[in-house]
Amino acid sequence: MNILVIGSGGREHAICHTLKRSPETERLFCVPGNPGIAKIAECPALPKNDWNAVAEFAAANDVKLVVVGPEAPLCDGAADLIRAKGIAVFGPSKDAAQLEGSKDFSKKFMTKYGIPTAAFGTFDNREDARAYVNAQYDRGIDLVVKADGLAAGKGVIVAADRAEALAAVDFCFDGAFGSAGARVVLEECLIGEEASILALTDGKSIQALASSQDHKRQLDNDMGPNTGGMGAYSPAPVVTDELMAAVQEQVLNRFLAGIQTEKLDYRGLIYAGIMVTKDGPKVLEFNVRFGDPETEAVLIRLKSSLADALYKTALGKLDEVNLMWADAPGICVVLASGEYPVGSIVKGHPISGIEEAEKCGAVVFHAGTSTDEQGRFVNAGGRVLVVAQSAPTISKAIDAVYKSLAHISWKDMQYRHDIAQKALKHQI
Ligand code: AMP
Ligand code: GLY
Repeated sequence: MNILVIGSGGREHAICHTLKRSPETERLFCVPGNPGIAKIAECPALPKNDWNAVAEFAAANDVKLVVVGPEAPLCDGAADLIRAKGIAVFGPSKDAAQLEGSKDFSKKFMTKYGIPTAAFGTFDNREDARAYVNAQYDRGIDLVVKADGLAAGKGVIVAADRAEALAAVDFCFDGAFGSAGARVVLEECLIGEEASILALTDGKSIQALASSQDHKRQLDNDMGPNTGGMGAYSPAPVVTDELMAAVQEQVLNRFLAGIQTEKLDYRGLIYAGIMVTKDGPKVLEFNVRFGDPETEAVLIRLKSSLADALYKTALGKLDEVNLMWADAPGICVVLASGEYPVGSIVKGHPISGIEEAEKCGAVVFHAGTSTDEQGRFVNAGGRVLVVAQSAPTISKAIDAVYKSLAHISWKDMQYRHDIAQKALKHQI
C-alpha cells in the first residue's frame, strides 16, 4: 500500500525508515519531509499546514494510510479532516489531542479516571497563581510550573525554590509562551527516575511498545535547561516487569476506559511520560504522538511490520497486531546546534561525516537540516541529527553509537556524552 507521513523531524525520519522496511509499503510519501527523509520517501511540495491539500494529494495517489507525526497538526484537526475524506489515519482526533494540547484537560482526565499523577492547580490569573505558590511552599511542597498549551517542549519549569516558582509564574503571564501560557498549571514536584511508555490504541485495545528513557536536560548529568530531548535508549531497565504491570493496570487500561467513556476517537499512539516514584508510577504528561527522540531508539528494535501495526490501528483492528522486538538495546544521541535550546540558532554550517557514521553501523536520522547551494547538508534547527545504533548489550551500544557519531561534525555542534549511563547503573 502507499503511505503518507506528515512531519519533518527525526521522529518522522525514523517512522519513514521503519515503514520502508515493512513488506506492505509500496510508495512512501512524507509532507513536508526533510533532506534526510527525501532520500527514502517522495516529499511533494504542498501548501504548508493545508490538510485539505494533503487529503487531496493522498486520494490522487492511492494512499491507503496517513500517519500524522507531530502534535500540532493533530491539535489542528488534521486527522479528522483527512479521515472525513475516507482515508485511514493513524493519529487521534482534535478533541482527543487536547490530552497533549492542554495540560489542564490532561490533568483533569487523569484525575477523573484514577490515573496516578502529581497534585495540581490550574490558574488563569497571576495573583491566584502566586498565592497558590506561596501556600504550597509554606507547606513544604516544591512546585513545577507548566504553561497550559503547546510550547514545543519548553513550557515546563522545574523550580529550584519559591522565588524561581514565582518568577516562572510571572514569566508565563508576561507572555513568554504566548497564548499557551495564558493558563498555568502548578504541580507538585515528583522525585524519581523517568521513563517513557508509548502505546498503540484504537480505542478498543491498547498495546505498549518497548519501554524507553529520554534525557530531557541539555547537559551531561542532567544539568542545564530542559530540551525536547537529547538522547534516548530502549529498553529502560527502570521499567521492570512489575512496574510495567502497574503501568498497564493504572495508566494504560484506565486511559482506555477514559477515552471510551469520553467517546474520544483515538486511533494512534499515546505517550505516557512516567515518573517512577517510591509510591509507584505517576504520569508527568500525556503526548498524543510518538516521542522524539524515544522513537529513534525504539523503532530500530522493531522486528515486526510497522506499516501493518499502524494500518490496523487506524482501522480499529489493533487486536490483530503482535509487535515483536529485538533483544538488542537501541540508543540514540541527538546532535544539536551550539545555541540550542535557549539561543537563536546560527544556521548554515556544513555538516561532515554522516556517511562515515553510517559505515560504522549507525542510522543517522535528520531532524533539523537543509542543503546549501553546493548540495551539502547544513544545520537548520536546534536538534539537527539523531544518531541511532543497537548492539547486543547496552554498554556495547553506548560504545558503538559514540564511535559512530565521532565522525560527524559542524561548527559549534553539541551533544550529551552520557546517554544511557543510567541504564548501566541498573546493572550494577
Ligand atoms: P512535561 O512536558 O510535562 O513532561 O515536562 C517536561 C519535564 O519536566 C519532564 O520530563 C520532567 O523531567 C519534568 N517534570 C514535569 N512535571 C514534573 C513533576 N511534577 N515533577 C518533577 N518533574 C517534572
Ligand atoms: N521526548 C519527549 C517528547 O517527545 O515529548
